[in-house]
Amino acid sequence: MTVRDIQFIQDGAADMWRDVRWVESVGSTNAELLASGEPGDVLIADEQTAGRGRLGRAWSSPKGSQLSVSVLVDAPEAASSFGLIPLAAGLAVTDVIPQARLKWPNDVQIEGRKLAGILAEADFSGERPRVVVGIGVNVAWRRDELPVETATSLNLEGIEVDWDQLAVDLLLALGTRCAQVGDEQLLEDYRAACSTIGEMVRLERAGGNVEGRVDGVNDAGEIVIAGEAYSAGDVTHLRPAS
Ligand code: BTN
Repeated sequence: MTVRDIQFIQDGAADMWRDVRWVESVGSTNAELLASGEPGDVLIADEQTAGRGRLGRAWSSPKGSQLSVSVLVDAPEAASSFGLIPLAAGLAVTDVIPQARLKWPNDVQIEGRKLAGILAEADFSGERPRVVVGIGVNVAWRRDELPVETATSLNLEGIEVDWDQLAVDLLLALGTRCAQVGDEQLLEDYRAACSTIGEMVRLERAGGNVEGRVDGVNDAGEIVIAGEAYSAGDVTHLRPAS
């Protein structure tokens, strides 16, 4: 099963999103919206054949497994707020799935297993800078078909959802959290949902890997490790050997 009643989703999300479209199959909902969307548009797909992940990786989203949704928003006016959009999107997922926590910046996890991924991509080519925010929530996977061993899915966690209601709830939470960018409450809530703060981590980044304890997430959304702030990279939580 996937999304069944697009009219239900359009009606439920209408206060925040002006145009909600559904397609059976698309390369990437992010790419499609960036190519042909307007701020306020939403695209949901049953299947992506060229889904895009963070740091240039591919993202697997076969039919029936995942809620794949992208929204297009105006870029925040302050450049310093750009890094907050992906955090806002991650928080929106945890608003809807309170069992989930966030590994910085926005890996949505349950018990350390990845439940959802988020990719925000900015486009400055036109007169009006825009950001597409794409979310893939694993809803119904067979354990032996998961793309990586460290992933999970709502069904595998015993969480049954109605796909259409999940889409509406996620879109409303996303609209609310994106509107909070620039508001201190967003960061306060993000920090409360972030499992990385206080952990010993390895940050893999282009400029060289860093290991240390995470002091926090600063007001620009950057991770602060042993007093130094970093805006991008892949975090691994390092667990003491038992
Ligand atoms: C990650 O690597 O964790 C981010 C994955 C983001 C996947 C979503 S699915 C909807 C949207 N369309 C894409 O091509 N990617 C994002």
